[in-house]
Amino acid sequence: MYSSAQEKQFSKRSTNFLKNGVPAEEYSSLIELLTYHEWKYYVRTNPILSDKEYDTLYNALLEIEKSNPLIVRPDSPSQRVSSDLNPDFESVPHLTPMLSLGNSYNEEDLLDFDRQVKKLSAIEGAIEYNVEPKFDGGSLALVYENDLLIRAATRGNGQQGEEITPNAKALPSIPLKAAFSKHGIYKAEVRGEAIIPISTFKNVNKKREKNGQKLFANPRNAAAGGLRMKIPQETRERGILVFIFQLSYAVDKNGNDVLGDLRSHSTQLDLLDSLGFKIPNNKERKVANKIEEVIKFSKTWEEKRDTYDYEIDGMVIKVNDLSIQQKIGYTQHHPRWAIAYKFKAKQATTSLLDVEFQVGKVGSITPVAKVEPKQLAGVTISSISLHNEDFILQKDLRIGDKILIERAGDVIPYIVKSFPELRTGEEKEIFFPSHCPVNHTDKSVELVKSEGEAAWRCPHCVCGLQNIQKIIFHVSKDAMDIDGFGKSYVEKFHQLGWINDVSDVYNLNYNEIAELEGFGKKSADNLKSAIEKAKQNPIQKLLHSLSIHHLGKKASKLIAQEINHVLDLSNWTEEMFTEIKDIGPVVAKNVIEYFSIDDNILLLQRMESLGVNLAQLEEDKPIEVADDAPLKEKTILFTGTLQKMKRNEAKEMAEFAGAKCISAVSSKLSILVVGEKAGSKLKKAQELGTVQIMTEDEFLELINGG
Ligand code: IVH
Repeated sequence: MYSSAQEKQFSKRSTNFLKNGVPAEEYSSLIELLTYHEWKYYVRTNPILSDKEYDTLYNALLEIEKSNPLIVRPDSPSQRVSSDLNPDFESVPHLTPMLSLGNSYNEEDLLDFDRQVKKLSAIEGAIEYNVEPKFDGGSLALVYENDLLIRAATRGNGQQGEEITPNAKALPSIPLKAAFSKHGIYKAEVRGEAIIPISTFKNVNKKREKNGQKLFANPRNAAAGGLRMKIPQETRERGILVFIFQLSYAVDKNGNDVLGDLRSHSTQLDLLDSLGFKIPNNKERKVANKIEEVIKFSKTWEEKRDTYDYEIDGMVIKVNDLSIQQKIGYTQHHPRWAIAYKFKAKQATTSLLDVEFQVGKVGSITPVAKVEPKQLAGVTISSISLHNEDFILQKDLRIGDKILIERAGDVIPYIVKSFPELRTGEEKEIFFPSHCPVNHTDKSVELVKSEGEAAWRCPHCVCGLQNIQKIIFHVSKDAMDIDGFGKSYVEKFHQLGWINDVSDVYNLNYNEIAELEGFGKKSADNLKSAIEKAKQNPIQKLLHSLSIHHLGKKASKLIAQEINHVLDLSNWTEEMFTEIKDIGPVVAKNVIEYFSIDDNILLLQRMESLGVNLAQLEEDKPIEVADDAPLKEKTILFTGTLQKMKRNEAKEMAEFAGAKCISAVSSKLSILVVGEKAGSKLKKAQELGTVQIMTEDEFLELINGG
């Protein structure tokens, strides 16, 4: 797509523009630059500008377009976010039918396919195949005319699809302009699959959870559904990427078919690559000289599918030579020159052998199913979390049941359902324990379940297990983040009697550690420096690391901001906690209880004497808010595209004026500042009726004391 000289030039020009600003006459050059950076980011996933730098250039583009509306080009990146809605997805015919693929499931099936291809093409020697991932998302067809993207449609019934052009335009991995004309092509149709990377999917769901929206079941549904949003911006927000896997139509200015001018499928892909489309990269696709190579490559991918950031449910094998493709043709339903090799299912049936009950760091009891080991998409599954008692009841599980298990978008397996109809009568009911499941003989402490909670808890641990879990959490990435200090170290050091509570973590004898089998001086030194570093953690981390029930990261931060020293909390009352916005009575009660126990105070004092920081660090102190600050005690949220300031600047100004920035519209929100093209947040705030809604100007006036 770009030569390295061009890339260097673009990079230089970007730096220059960022430093000196962009003159209006550089409009075309700016479009080229932004298109290049979109490609780097979304097609090559290798950005060279920070988001902020990209925004600076993008805003320069908007400035130029605002003052010269007549010059706005259809391939300008600003045209991705149009205000066009998709009213009711018009049905449009595809230029050629979008067929499906035949399936194969094992080596034998692939050998059969190869034999069939040879027979139909009357070729005796080895056939060359192109092998690439079968992306599991929603398929779409893009039509380009005179180099511009003019139409996008979903697969629909294969003959007709739904027109979703504004949505496709909003996806930056789809080029708005592609230089087909350089290759004698006037009108072209390319096909591909819209998918959401698994990592993006997790973030999208996290955000939805935070906003109180329903979670997506898996990346495939979220991607396929995402293509059909009414508001293109919502399609874009799902983080969809589009992989192109076929050039399905190409004619020149006179309407003559020029598709056959390309020699092979792999040359087609190379052409699409050079035009800026996102295609499977060199690791993902292969031109195989014979079917045995196809089998080897497909199996390798099957083994590593879980290390991949996209959901793929198989590989697609295509005869590479287009003239052979043409010769052997199609059935009604699929091409005879291609086949899907489907990976082993991610669902399987197995038997529920037993249920174990594990104790967590705050005493929550988690039931874990032990199942007849089963291979599921390359991994042997033998344990599956059952979450809590309600889950067992809902799924109607009995020991001995046949069950359906699945590994979906996430790698964590789960039980989809049981099959009560297959019961023999031998199955046993699952009894949730009433006392500590570790120490069966000790009936002194009964499990409790608080109102509104799903988990049973052991309120006073006598078996000592909770303590170990607390230490494991304390050193983990989520808490004190002691690099290299994992669960196995905790268990080992505990066994040796070196650590019995979290304070012992800071009193280890590194000479003794160096002597341990499998350790040595280097590991001991590394551990020491990681622990020394953790001692200096800000107190919000320390608070979170104490395993106080319900005290999460966010609440720890909010509380930490209000104190000078962790032990100050031993004098805090419930009101003092609940006066902090977002801290409720449950957290308050639990923290108060923790600090009312003498042993806990002694533990913290011991940690301090061993060098752990318990005091508020100067740089972590919150900004002092004056009593007359205009937004004191207000919460604020910015939505839509801001014209007068960058979002970060706006947030900083708001915080300086005493407000707290939050990320979702709820009854806790006081002010919503709306920029251009505000969407669902504005609507929700209007519906709530309790939120003060204002424009950017009104906001600026307010904070400047107007
Ligand atoms: S080629 C005429 N290549 O799988 C052959 N399809 O089951 C056209 N798919 O509708 C299909 N990845 O949505 C092809 N690398 C790939 C693919 C792929 C995913 C989807 C596509 C198609 C379905 C067929």
